[in-house]
Amino acid sequence: MAASREKFGRMGVILALAGSAIGLGNIWRFPYMVGEYGGAAFIIVYLAFAFLISLPAFLAESLIGRKAGKSTYDALESLAPGTKWKWLGLLAVLGAFIITSYYSVVGGWSLDFLARSVVRGFDSANPEGAAAVFDRMTASTIEPLLAHALFLGFSCMIIVLGVKKGIDRFSKVCIPLLFVLIVAMMLFSLSLPGSKDGLDYLLKPDFSKLTPRGVACALGQSFFSMSIGMGVVLTYSSYMKKQQKILSTSVLTLIFDIFFAVISGFVVMPAVFSAGLRPEAGPSLVFESIPYIFARMGAASPLLGRVMAIGFFLTILIAAITSEISMIESCVSMLMERLHWGRKKATWVIFCAALLLGCWCSLRSNVFSFCDFVSSNVFMMLGALAFTVFAGWKMERSALKAEFTNNGRLKLSSALFGGFYFLLKYLVPPAILVIFFTNLL
Ligand code: PHE
Repeated sequence: MAASREKFGRMGVILALAGSAIGLGNIWRFPYMVGEYGGAAFIIVYLAFAFLISLPAFLAESLIGRKAGKSTYDALESLAPGTKWKWLGLLAVLGAFIITSYYSVVGGWSLDFLARSVVRGFDSANPEGAAAVFDRMTASTIEPLLAHALFLGFSCMIIVLGVKKGIDRFSKVCIPLLFVLIVAMMLFSLSLPGSKDGLDYLLKPDFSKLTPRGVACALGQSFFSMSIGMGVVLTYSSYMKKQQKILSTSVLTLIFDIFFAVISGFVVMPAVFSAGLRPEAGPSLVFESIPYIFARMGAASPLLGRVMAIGFFLTILIAAITSEISMIESCVSMLMERLHWGRKKATWVIFCAALLLGCWCSLRSNVFSFCDFVSSNVFMMLGALAFTVFAGWKMERSALKAEFTNNGRLKLSSALFGGFYFLLKYLVPPAILVIFFTNLL
């Protein structure tokens, strides 16, 4: 029943959306991509995409969610009854489920590394030794599975508590903490000897490195980072109050997300270069290079190395949990509505299913890569395309405008609506298609 639907508080929804956006993508993917594809040159393209393409796409999904006040499948069904749009919604939620599963495996690794930092720290004499810790951990069967189960279980517990008592409250505590942690880590990282090379790597614009592939990656990364196309933004927005300003909420989420990504770059790269390492993508950067840096620090000052390692893995863990719960909620809320299940039952079902798929990802790296590939290159892109085409071409302009401007009450939003609508209709869908095919080829 729509009337009894739980609602976020005003700050709660901004922090929950930011929590969903800020995640592993910001910490390990963004810094690496910046370095790989031309430093400031990549950042400029990324920012342009973020504001011109991701923001309208994010707004579209958010507008659909709040207008319908329902989760993904039912939202599309209620706004376009009897059409096939709802099946695209289902596809998006399926994508969210796949990410939930493998994301939880990585979340488990960060939990494992946090525990290691607390218990004994990292004590390796060389980078290979430090990297071997990660390899041994992932190669062992039980340890990563246990960590995955714990991470997923904890996230599900927050979901069982519900929107207000679970997600809202958790985000309000964790997001401010995340910002304090990441800024502290940055100050520290920048003070390391040799950190300037890392800054150069991040910031020197090199347009020759900005290949078409780099441009495609910029948009894909921006979508992933803003949690677009998975029904996550839609679901969270369905818990948004009618008087909330959708435009400023979305812009704030985007700014928080970009800020966090850039600061993560200033944490990771200076530290990597200071230790004489080369940056590498993905898990190996965060779980192999970084522990070595803390181990070296620990050799000079054990306490410092320990504190830094704990701070770093705690940051990753919290960022990962706030993203994970948003994906779980996208799935759970659909099951609750569609099948009239209680929250507990729906969460249990998602827990068991994601536990199984996650275990498979954890045991087989090709399954892991496949899940990552299809969810971010296929499901996410199709989901984003579906939501933007639905809002831009299927919904009535006046209905969309009424939702965007809170029935004409918001002056700034009314003035900006035309620009948003133009981008939504004519720029965003073709851009998604181009990137979709570039990524597939
Ligand atoms: N935005 C999250 C990150 O940057 C990942 C995510 C994708 C979360 C899709 C929800 C939905 O890590």
